[in-house]
Amino acid sequence: MKYRKVGIIGAGLIGRSVYNEVCRSEVAEVAYVLVSGKKSASHREVEGIDPALLVSDLDEAMAQPVDLVVEAAHADVLAAVAPRVLASSDLCGFSCSAFARPDVERAVAESCRANGTQFFLPHGAILGLDGFVDGRDCIEDVTITTTKRATGLGFESDISGVVFEGSAREACQKFPRNVNVHAAIAIAGIGFDRTKSIVAAKPDTEEMRHRIQVSGQGFAWDFSVTSRSLGGVTGAYTPKSAAGSVRRILVSSGIVNS
Ligand SMILES: NC(=O)c1ccc[n+]([C@@H]2O[C@H](COP(=O)([O-])OP(=O)(O)OC[C@H]3O[C@@H](n4cnc5c(N)ncnc54)[C@H](O)[C@@H]3O)[C@@H](O)[C@H]2O)c1
Repeated sequence: MKYRKVGIIGAGLIGRSVYNEVCRSEVAEVAYVLVSGKKSASHREVEGIDPALLVSDLDEAMAQPVDLVVEAAHADVLAAVAPRVLASSDLCGFSCSAFARPDVERAVAESCRANGTQFFLPHGAILGLDGFVDGRDCIEDVTITTTKRATGLGFESDISGVVFEGSAREACQKFPRNVNVHAAIAIAGIGFDRTKSIVAAKPDTEEMRHRIQVSGQGFAWDFSVTSRSLGGVTGAYTPKSAAGSVRRILVSSGIVNS
């Protein structure tokens, strides 16, 4: 097995799901869980995690030899740690809106090339990224519309209507925690500048919806995913998807055998 020791950055909904999956895996073990501050991390957040594995210092975490790091914290964290992590291990990053920054995209590519390591893009809250990779050369237009409650988008009042329309690159700069789906589709598909993003606020809803409209040479896709918010930026399906992605990395298998 290639992956025996796994570092996890972030102990929120996704980080905890990944932690449980690695502990269950029988092929790998968790080396550390990096949280933003051992004392300030909420009880709920670290509940169920072996206290001996909790680390609050980035340098302490980076000093531990691991084969894979899973980031589930924030785009700024992924941007800051990616080249350093990739110098000695593979990396799977959930906060992929970080890639909207050209310097981050470049640094990740260079680090992978120089060190023979890999970056894994998990599908996260969306499905079917393989279709975007396969169709990349003949996809002409991609529009993603994300609808959720304004407070979940960072607004103080429960406003209604379109709050942003522009490129996926700009959307990632404005709503880094909410448009990772736009980033993943842009990376898999036709890029951050050609992928169009719309963000809309809908009052009195606990649902988050991503509608994806694609047209290409002789084909069109129109699908949407809806999930109930688990309280923050993550919906009910994503912790399951995160566990599945990490499971497939650990056993180096495709979808059928996972
Ligand atoms: N790819 C996708 O489709 C997708 C879907 C949902 C969420 N996300 C992203 O995944 C990330 C995690 O989501 P979540 O719902 O688990 O978030 P969360 O808010 O539940 O947890 C975030 C965790 O990161 C930790 N953290 C923050 N700053 C840190 C730092 N500097 N060092 C170490 N730890 C730090 C926090 O303490 C917390 O444990 C977010 O960036 C979110 O936007 C991606």
